[in-house]
Amino acid sequence: MAGLLDYQHVEISFNGNAVVHDVTFQLHPGEILGLVGESGSGKSTLIKAAMGLLGSSGMVTRGDIWFEGKNLPDLSDSEMRHICGEKIGMIFQDCGASLSPIRTIGEQIVESLAAHRKVDVQTTKAAAMELFDKLKLKDGERVWNSYPFELSGGMNQRAGIAIAMLMNPVILLADEPTSALDVAVQRQVVEEMLSVRDEFGTAIIIVTHDIGVVSAMADSILVLQDGNVMEYGRAKDVLETPRNDYTRKLLSAVPRLRRG
Ligand SMILES: Nc1ncnc2c1ncn2[C@@H]1O[C@H](COP(=O)(O)OP(=O)(O)OP(=O)(O)O)[C@@H](O)[C@H]1O
Ligand SMILES: [Mg+2]
Repeated sequence: MAGLLDYQHVEISFNGNAVVHDVTFQLHPGEILGLVGESGSGKSTLIKAAMGLLGSSGMVTRGDIWFEGKNLPDLSDSEMRHICGEKIGMIFQDCGASLSPIRTIGEQIVESLAAHRKVDVQTTKAAAMELFDKLKLKDGERVWNSYPFELSGGMNQRAGIAIAMLMNPVILLADEPTSALDVAVQRQVVEEMLSVRDEFGTAIIIVTHDIGVVSAMADSILVLQDGNVMEYGRAKDVLETPRNDYTRKLLSAVPRLRRG
């Protein structure tokens, strides 16, 4: 079955040196794919490629990334603007840092939506309040009016998730969205992402070092080592019967989060 997002034999290079090799996988509607691998294995690079965020030295040097009948690396900047944020959203590792320090959360929400469509501030605010509530981000009015430095790390993280979700993307790419959070808040973010998937059918790629997060969330798992796919399959299969030592070592961390 063709995927919603279809990586076909993707190679990615920086300054002519390939760092991701021959990666093929499919993400289906509503699917959560866990992307794991040691530091430097190419996880961020792999998802940034879909967003056209490889910078001036990076490019997809082989293969295709299909989305809605289009090969993303072939698209112009203006075509990408219609896709990034609006159809494919991204949550970065440190959402607090990727928020602007000099604008309130509310202003940033209005601005990011206004980049893609006509927005009415009151309607947008109402939608944000509803989503804050769904994300269990309490005291939405205060969050809306706050600058990032006035909120906790966990609140900023969730504000970042809310901003990405308000665009109602069909795909959400989450690069270590829980890495900076304590375990209790991590669990909450994981639950929120799961409920967003259940409610909106959002497909999610989650990059994480935390195998507990993967075992709690993922439907499928892709394991990267030095830019190569070591394993790819149903989460249950990869977790229960890892095929090689590298995966076993990655999985040896005791899961801290479990499926409810
Ligand atoms: N802009 C860049 N220019 C040159 N090399 C880069 C660039 N970005 C990433 N790389 C290289 O690509 C490889 C993969 O990096 P990447 O950031 O994708 O790893 P990662 O799996 O996300 O690691 P981590 O878990 O530490 O975030 C690394 O060797 C890195 O040095
Ligand atoms: Mg990374």
